[in-house]
Amino acid sequence: MANFLRILGIETSCDETAAAVVARHEDGRGEILSDVVFSQLDEHSLYGGVVPEIAARAHVEALDGLIEEALHRANVSLDEVDAIAATSGPGLIGGLIVGLMTAKAMARAAGKPLFAINHLEGHALTARLTDGLAFPYLMLLVSGGHTQLILVRGVGEYERWGTTIDDALGEAFDKTAKLLGLPYPGGPAVEKAALKGDPDRFSLPRPLVGEARLDFSFSGLKTAVRQAATEIAPLSEQDVADICASFQKAISRTLRDRIGRGLMRFKQEYGGLDVDPALVVAGGVAANQDIRRTLQALCLEHGFRFIAPPLKLCTDNAAMIAWAGLERLADEQPADGLDVAPRSRWPLDAQAQTLLGSGKRGAKA
Ligand code: KG4
Ligand code: ZN
Repeated sequence: MANFLRILGIETSCDETAAAVVARHEDGRGEILSDVVFSQLDEHSLYGGVVPEIAARAHVEALDGLIEEALHRANVSLDEVDAIAATSGPGLIGGLIVGLMTAKAMARAAGKPLFAINHLEGHALTARLTDGLAFPYLMLLVSGGHTQLILVRGVGEYERWGTTIDDALGEAFDKTAKLLGLPYPGGPAVEKAALKGDPDRFSLPRPLVGEARLDFSFSGLKTAVRQAATEIAPLSEQDVADICASFQKAISRTLRDRIGRGLMRFKQEYGGLDVDPALVVAGGVAANQDIRRTLQALCLEHGFRFIAPPLKLCTDNAAMIAWAGLERLADEQPADGLDVAPRSRWPLDAQAQTLLGSGKRGAKA
């Protein structure tokens, strides 16, 4: 199919309410016509984390207005879009219901096909929207709810090579921040404090480093941070900075080892590609400069291109959901029926086993 296509996308799986209109040109190029996001951060920060009930209500209140705004900014009417795509999992079930039901009602009323999209697939395909990346490539998703290394082979073809066996990386940042008395969300606060700290003052564990499997583990690191903090309490500002810097260093070293092995495996399996292989990073933790530098250097060493889409498209948004729908539409994959149900758990790779303790906050992606 080589037509010019446009899709309205809706995202409500966690604490961002978002709507977007994205086009796919005849040559396969993607173009974001509008992309509106309402972050509920203020409503949750008081509680130090996302409260599902508050999130669901906030989605109900914001979504209609955001959809109108997205269509208006894109200068298209509902009649003019080719389909509607909505996140139908994984995520917080209340929010998923709000987004998917809205999409179903609109699809029914306007007589448009509906695509129920896996949120992780949205993250996985974003680099094709921003950079026109060809398959196959590796993707590292590091957010508040996920830490996964995924082989992206094609639309709908994903292989999970590694995942966390306990906490997600963003969760480790958030918990570390909390125990050091830093504000939520913890990632940016830890990164800022670390700038003035000594990364060599504390020697923190680097879990699973050296092991052949490509999984991650971060809960031991968090425990070690707690021990270090307890031993030297009360903490001065400099102590907090030193712990944060040491924590980030341990993470960068861990990622170097884990992802380095992933890159080598990719080269072994896909040695004959015409272009340099690529590693894509997505998720809120991808904002961390130290982690970015680590991954960039690692890619350079292994002859990989390092692709980090603009931060707005690395974190939760509806443009990636619309684009995933466009990929399916262009690939002539069937739309979903109006009886499709939201799924709070929905692994991208159906063959991958659930690892003990992983995805406890599977709600967040
Ligand atoms: O992808 P995201 O915006 O939302 C979901 O998880 O759905 O990711 C949020 C996570 C939080 O855990 C936050 O602490 C972390 O990303 N994060 C960071 C940074 N900015 C956000 N972690 C480390 N360094 C940062 N600069
Ligand atoms: Zn996400």
